[in-house]
Formats: sequence, C-alpha cells, structure tokens
Amino acid sequence: MMYPYQINTIEQYYQDYKHSIEEPELFWANIANHFLWHKKWDEVLEWNFTEPRVEWFKGARLNITENCIDRHLDSIGNQPAIIWEPNDPQDSSRIITYNQLYNQVCRVSQVLTNLGVKKGDRVCIYMGMVPELAFAVLACARIGAIHSVIFGGFSAQSIADRLADAQAEFIITCDGAYRGAKDIPLKSVIDDALTGNTTVKKVLVYTRTRIPVSMINGRDVWWEDEMEHAELNNAVHFQATSMDAEDPLFILYTSGSTGKPKGVVHTQAGYMLWANYTFINVFQYKPGQIHFCTADIGWITGHSYVLYGPLSAGATTVMFEGVPTWPDAGRFWDIVDKYNVNILYTAPTAIRSLMGFGLAPLQGKDLSSLNVLGSVGEPINIEAWQWFNKNIGKGNCPIVDTWWQTETGGIMISNLAGVTPHKPAYATLPLPGVLPVLVDEQGKELQGNSVNGNLCIKQSWPATIRTTYRDHERCRTNYFAAYPNKYFTGDGAMRDELGNYRITGRVDDVLNVSGHRIGTAEVENAINMHSGVVESAVVGYPHDIKGQGIYAYVILEDKGHEAELMRQNIIQTVVRIIGPIAKPDKIQFVSGLPKTRSGKIMRRILRKIAEGETSNLGDTTTLLDPGVVDEIKDGAKLV
Ligand code: WTA
Repeated sequence: MMYPYQINTIEQYYQDYKHSIEEPELFWANIANHFLWHKKWDEVLEWNFTEPRVEWFKGARLNITENCIDRHLDSIGNQPAIIWEPNDPQDSSRIITYNQLYNQVCRVSQVLTNLGVKKGDRVCIYMGMVPELAFAVLACARIGAIHSVIFGGFSAQSIADRLADAQAEFIITCDGAYRGAKDIPLKSVIDDALTGNTTVKKVLVYTRTRIPVSMINGRDVWWEDEMEHAELNNAVHFQATSMDAEDPLFILYTSGSTGKPKGVVHTQAGYMLWANYTFINVFQYKPGQIHFCTADIGWITGHSYVLYGPLSAGATTVMFEGVPTWPDAGRFWDIVDKYNVNILYTAPTAIRSLMGFGLAPLQGKDLSSLNVLGSVGEPINIEAWQWFNKNIGKGNCPIVDTWWQTETGGIMISNLAGVTPHKPAYATLPLPGVLPVLVDEQGKELQGNSVNGNLCIKQSWPATIRTTYRDHERCRTNYFAAYPNKYFTGDGAMRDELGNYRITGRVDDVLNVSGHRIGTAEVENAINMHSGVVESAVVGYPHDIKGQGIYAYVILEDKGHEAELMRQNIIQTVVRIIGPIAKPDKIQFVSGLPKTRSGKIMRRILRKIAEGETSNLGDTTTLLDPGVVDEIKDGAKLV
C-alpha cells in the first residue's frame, strides 16, 4: 500500500500545512478518498467550539475494521499485522498475519454477537497485552459496540466507577496478566469491581496465566469455549456493521483537574483518518517496515499507534506484553534486534529508567535496523534526548517528539521524521490541520514568536474530542469554556523564533507521573477516604525517573499514630481506590495547610516546598495562618 498523502519534503509540509488551514474541507476530502466507505459524506466538516459541536464527514458510512483489515487482504494478506512478544523471552512469540487477524476478529465478533452485544453497547476491556486484546478491540469496532479499555494498573474501585459511568453491560478480561515478575489477577479484580453491580450481563474470560478464577454461572464464560462455538456464516466471514461517521468508536477515561476521570469520546471517521494520517506522516512509515510502539493499549497511545494507526496503514505492529526491565534492562533492545524493528516509539520515563542501567544492556544488541525514534507522554529532557539519540539511534535516526493528548486522538505537534528538523526538547511544528495558539491568562492571543503562554487549538481537526460520555456540559466547561472559541489543552508552551513549540507541562492540577495523567484532586479524594485522615493536599515534584512524583501533605485526625504505619495505610488506600499508578511517593504529616482567608489551599507554596525551595515562597501574608508554612518547611526536611 502506498500513501499518496505522505509528506516527503519540507516544502511539501509547508504547502500542505497552508492548504489544510485555508481549505480544510478540500484538504481532508482528498485524503478521505483513499479510504473504504459504504457511503461517502454529504459534508466534510461542520463545527463550532462554543457548544461544542464537531462533525466530520457527516452522512458518510463506514466500518473502521474494513479499513484496518479487509482492504489489505488482497495485497498483503500474508504479511504480519501483529508481531507479539511475550513477557517471558523464553516463551514463543506469535505472528498474526492480516489474513489471520481477519479470521480472529470475525470470530470474536461472532462470539460477542452470540453473547448479546449489539451496536452502541459499551464493552469494557480489562486485559493484559495479549493479541486477543487487539482482537477484542477490533471486534467491538466491527460490530459497532463502543469499547472502553481500562489499563491493568487500575483498581477494582476505578473499574467500578468506569463501568457505572459508561453503563457497560459487557466485560472482556483475562484470568491474569504477566507484567515482568508479577502476575496480576485481572479476573479477581473484575469480580471485586462487580460486587453489587447489576448492569453487567456477561464477562468473557481469556486464559493467559492459568491462575485459579471464580466463574459465576450464567454471567462468566470462557473465551476459548465461546470461540469454539462461534459458527460463522461461510466459515470465516463476519459482516462489518455499517457505522455513521459520527457514531462513537470508543470511550477512554482520563484524569482532569476535577476528582472524577472523564470518558473522552472519539468517533469513527475523523479518528480513523487522524490516526492513519499522523502515523504515516510523523513516523514516515514505509510499506514493509516494523513499527514498535511500547505503550499499553490501555492508554490512547496504544489505541492510536499500536492498533488503529499502523493497521489502517497496512503496517506491521509489534505488541509487547512485558516491561522494559524484565528479566533485564535489555528487553527493548532484544526486541529491536530480534524483529529488526525500524520505528521505536516510547516514553521519556522509560528512556530515563533505562539510562540508569548504563550501556551494559546494549552490549551485543544489533540496533542497526532502526530508522526512526519517537517520544511521547511528557516533555523529554535534554539528557534523555541525547542518550536516546547517541546510544539507540547512533546519531542516525531522527527523533520525533510528539505532543498530543487523549482528547486529540492522535499526534498534534511533532517534527516529521527526517522531513522537518528535530530540536531537542521541542515538539516543533504543528501537523497539517492543527492551528495552535498561545494565550495569556486573560485569553489574549500572543502574537509573534519567542513567547510563552497557555496552549490552545483554534480550529477543529478530524479527531477533536466530541464529548465526555453522558456529560457534554463537562466537556464544554473542561476544554472549551476557558477561552472562547478555542480548545484549551491544559498545557503551557513556548514558541521559539522559528515557530517551534516547546511544551513546558501542565498548567492545571493534573500530574504527569511516568507519562500517566493523574489528577491531584483524584489522589486527594482517595487519601481522604482513609478514616484517620482529616484533609490532604497533593502536588507534583520533580522526579528523576518518573518526571513527576506525587507529594501528599496530610492532616491526621489523631497524631498519636505511628507515622510509618499510617503512611503505609494511606498508600494502601490509594492503591485500593485508584490503583498502584497513583501511589504517593512522599507523604508529609502536617497540622495545617496554607490557606487563604477564603479557605483556598495555596498550592503554589506547597509545590515550592515539595520542590525543595525554602526561601522564595512568595507572598504569604494573605494566609490565614502564616505560621503553618514554617512548620511545613521544617517537616519537609524529614520526608
Ligand atoms: C503530556 C498522551 C510534552 C501533556 C499522548 C499532555 C507531552 C498530556 C508530550 C497528555 C510531549 C504528551 N511533550 N508533554 N511530547 N506528549 N504530553 O492524555 O501534558 O495520556 O497534556 O496522552 O501528556 O497525556 P495523555
């Protein structure tokens, strides 16, 4: 498959960029013509960012899986679609060709249909990184069910909240999942999440680890049994459901500055185009290349660049079940060597953690197949960039620093590998279709270059967030109300003299811990659930490997408790309520929090103390009790 809309030169980038902004309808219609439709659109684009209302390819009908699978079968049916690397390198890998992927997805579609799943139903998927996860996601898309994938590191309580919010009636899970030396009992977590739940009708369980599980009669069924019973018409075919371009494709929950995660909704056609277009252009994918994105499918990066982007392009995508440091810190390099990976897309936190192991894990690993490196999830610091460039890319591979979000569906600001220049720590230039602006606190647009402000997007791109599930008002207030007619990203950025963007990090109360978004309010709510806690305040602080660590200031009801025990108990509570990914790194017990006279916590002061700053705390005279700051400063030295 060739890509007529792949940008090959910097001149073409500028030309396409200009065209995409001036005539978005024409620009995207030209690209959309290269996809498979049941019916073409009546209108390319209708949008306003006040309601907000965003509709791309209105009136068109399609199925995304026909674009990801069926249309490749004649030309590359025997090419690997997915190369699966197991957690344990001693176990055998699996290679799934496009033909096999088609058969599997059809069969799982039949299984889901037999279980009663229909178009529009929400299916919650809580699985490890096994190929069956990919089959499950694609089968949902094939029958038109809305998938909501939940990362394996979330707790039963988090799952229960998401099930309730999505009103999900179906779950697909595994008995357990392998992650490094750990064996995570997924089904048992699901059982806990389902205590008292009356909406879930069926739980489909794939066998991976053979850990004993409890199967509830009538509700829980085995994947393997159902697959055996799934009778397909004509043996292998399952007719893809015809979807409206604006029907929801998936919900993905993500943290914001309020306590409750929100269900970001993406729709069929716009998301498909964006995942495909950004994949082909940013990574400069060439047919036959091997693409390895290390993200879990539980995050948006996995949705767009393990599955939908690569598969829609007929690429070969590597899916890795394990972790970069087990059984040793050479795991990524073994995979690159073993499969001759051409494109490696990973996160700064992984790079920093691997840097800590020195160069020994690279010994004897042939990385010469690599052409392109990519980074996502958080700002990449210069040291990590240099290390990646020198030791992994051997100075020969362009590095794409890709800025985007769950809400944007795909990459928004990035250099195009080898086509537009990279610049360490800069995401650089917007992709065609993306019109970024920087605004000051008052919402005034900052003109010219060499400026610093809040990053907004001024025009709709095909994968604009459509809504937050069952709560459109929340979508409006969260993203479209801060600055009129603009989508507000929650990130701060600067623009250099050449128009390159450098993302400086979140400007709201959202932390970025190892590339995972966690709301401070969410962690505070979890800590406050502990019966011994009166109040808490959570801030981020710089962490060498995670990027940001979680620092919690906690007021206890009874100061007589043993501090270490309380600390452990509070951590356990957070793990129970949210999951291990939100564990506080530091907990400081305090007798009060710095508050203004109106009762607002002065987080600015707490952030500075957490960062180790003791002198320059700014104006503290407006505080209700300025004395509390000294106590907190003294206490911080002991944490
Ligand atoms: C941050 C992940 C700097 C940013 C795809 C954003 C980045 C949040 C970059 C979204 C980057 C992502 N440089 N910061 N290249 N990429 N971020 O929704 O703060 O999990 O708002 O999507 O990650 O995280 P999310």
